[in-house]
Amino acid sequence: MYTTLKTETSADGVAVVTINVADRPMNVLTPALLADLDAVTAALKADAAVRGIVITSAKSSFIAGADLKELLGHMERGASVRDGFGFSQHLTQIFRRLETCGKPVAAAINGLALGGGLELALACHRRFLADDRKAVIGLPEVKVGLLPGAGGTQRVLRLIGLAAAAKLITDGAQLGPAEALKAGLVHEIAPAGELVARARAWVLANPTAAAPWDAKGFRIPGGASLTMPAVNQTLSVATALITKAVGRRYPAPGAILSTLYEGGNLPFDLALRVESKYFGQLLAGAVARNLTRTLFVHKGELDKLARRPAGIPRSETGPIGVLGAGMMGAGIAHIAAQAGIEVVLIDATREQAERGKAHAARALERDVEKGRRDAASAAAVLARIHPTTDYAELRACGLVIEAVFEDRAVKAEVTARAVAAMPKGAIFASNTSTLPITGLAAASPRPKQFIGLHFFSPVERMPLVEVILGKKTDEATLAAALDFVARLKKTPIVVNDSRGFYTTRVFGAYCQEGQILLAEGVAPALIENAGRLAGMPVGPLAVTDEVSLELQYRVARQAAIDLGARYEPSPAMPVLTRFVEDLKRLGRKSGGGFYDYPADGPKQLWPGLATEYPPAAVQPSLEEVQRRLLYAQAVDAARCFEEGVVTTPAEADVGSILGIGFPAWTGGALSYIDTIGVAHFVAGCNELARRHGKRFRPGRDLKARATANRPFHPSPRDGQAA
Ligand code: NAI
Repeated sequence: MYTTLKTETSADGVAVVTINVADRPMNVLTPALLADLDAVTAALKADAAVRGIVITSAKSSFIAGADLKELLGHMERGASVRDGFGFSQHLTQIFRRLETCGKPVAAAINGLALGGGLELALACHRRFLADDRKAVIGLPEVKVGLLPGAGGTQRVLRLIGLAAAAKLITDGAQLGPAEALKAGLVHEIAPAGELVARARAWVLANPTAAAPWDAKGFRIPGGASLTMPAVNQTLSVATALITKAVGRRYPAPGAILSTLYEGGNLPFDLALRVESKYFGQLLAGAVARNLTRTLFVHKGELDKLARRPAGIPRSETGPIGVLGAGMMGAGIAHIAAQAGIEVVLIDATREQAERGKAHAARALERDVEKGRRDAASAAAVLARIHPTTDYAELRACGLVIEAVFEDRAVKAEVTARAVAAMPKGAIFASNTSTLPITGLAAASPRPKQFIGLHFFSPVERMPLVEVILGKKTDEATLAAALDFVARLKKTPIVVNDSRGFYTTRVFGAYCQEGQILLAEGVAPALIENAGRLAGMPVGPLAVTDEVSLELQYRVARQAAIDLGARYEPSPAMPVLTRFVEDLKRLGRKSGGGFYDYPADGPKQLWPGLATEYPPAAVQPSLEEVQRRLLYAQAVDAARCFEEGVVTTPAEADVGSILGIGFPAWTGGALSYIDTIGVAHFVAGCNELARRHGKRFRPGRDLKARATANRPFHPSPRDGQAA
């Protein structure tokens, strides 16, 4: 009778409801499961033989949460605040009917329980959690711009008090069993195999169990009234911390605080309506849609290798070779060894190769100190890295990645030597950040097996790998490269060859705009603050210092040589030339660039900037500078899409957030254009192009989209959020 669960009532009168949503690796709250839960609650309530209920799952996890793809569908079809309220109330009422069915209900949480999954467990009267590292629980909705909309905010508030609830839900933290017990979110921890038996015993021993908040005289631990100084302080401090951490572009954390405060001062059933009201507001807004689509749905598809050519068997490339044990090569060797892959790490001298291994050793030591892994597993990872200068050791490597200097001649030399030593059919990848792959592939006699694997710095932390196809790269090579990226647990985007590919090019537009603003006499502090307040992780001048002005200068010079008459110098070039050639301020690594880096304090804008680029008498507004910094990137991302450098809006968006730090609330560089409204964006670009130059001029595709009102993604509420 039920399609997503089965129920079995034993002689003692305990009904065990076992959830098993077919065709899904993990249970999610699909409409069918919700309908079954509601029906089974009604049936068990009516069945006089049933004395209590135990809810568990047939899968290794309990319930992973709401069906976010389904939610995204609602958002893309233009769900209103009222629709969002209704959606939330639907779940809320089903869980509330379970909670008030008049029989004791226990949750046997045999594995991970997140979001709506935990909310279902919270509606049970007793929670037993498996004593298993993978059995994490939490309410991560804030990460997709939402709040728990099935009673989670109000039950957690009433269980653990305002301060702890605000922290847990605004952080979206996930807790392991011991932490969950300590936090007071579950009652008992037990071995997975004993959960149901314990839950069964509990319901039999507690025939009159009910939710504490349904008892007369119930009080929220610590209270929730503004007249209480501790409550007052919690709310004002939390508001300040949230504003500092995420700025004002993310409405969910503030809505969570409002829900907790307002709901905490109301009877429980009214409080549930307050939660649904705020849920509806978030669901109808652009930010939740953008975050859900890009960081959950699209990123999830790319992680599952949506771009992998079909029909090619999975490869288990390994061992691998890494050429160049500098910053990038050492990082790549480290994460590959962590993924269980043997690594031959080659540099010009034995000392340099050893230095690369020492980088991994230091990182692993830190992991051991912090309790993230034990000494034996750290030693095992380190033992997989084999530093050498001998190319013959590449003889068994299925993949070799070069990360030597960004110099065509050096790269050509190491490519030729490596390919001569590697097995036939093995793949050669370059980690170049700027040099076109097709040109580099000319150094290999097997250009079909040549590909770009562009990692980001620091390799250990940055989640993206930009996979670049040369003109001759074949499908088997792409498939194997993607399999390798998946083993490293990174997110791949696949792009076509071009100067700077996708991410370096769009990132360059950000740095360049900062430098042009500086040359125009815009105050450097205004430029930097505008970058950060727009949501970029670092201001454009500071980030140029990080990657080095010299590198950007050299890349521009190389482009001039390669392109000849077709080269158009960037309006930022005079700034780079002045800093590199005359002032010898090359960036952070060489002591200073746009900033000074005193040994005994934080970095400071270089005072000489005021004489080099005297601030203009009239300064643009903060909003105007923010707009230029984001528009410069977005219009270039759209150009990359039009030129076929990046071929799907999903990859353009995911790549811009994970690779460049484009603000997540926008959903990515192209989603930003949708969010503003394509026509509005194009009008803004035209105006900026008139005033500041043709780099802002929209491409043909963008103009056609504006005319036809055709966004990059289904976005019925365009133009309302920015
Ligand atoms: P790095 O200067 O830290 O390391 C380069 C390493 O290559 C050095 O250890 C050097 O000794 C070695 N090397 C040079 N010539 C060699 C040869 N003939 N044979 C063997 N080893 C040789 O440079 P980094 O930053 O690690 O960059 C390496 C590559 O990664 C470059 O192509 C760069 O464009 C790219 N890249 C750099 C990023 C960054 O943020 N630094 C980000 C993404 C890519």
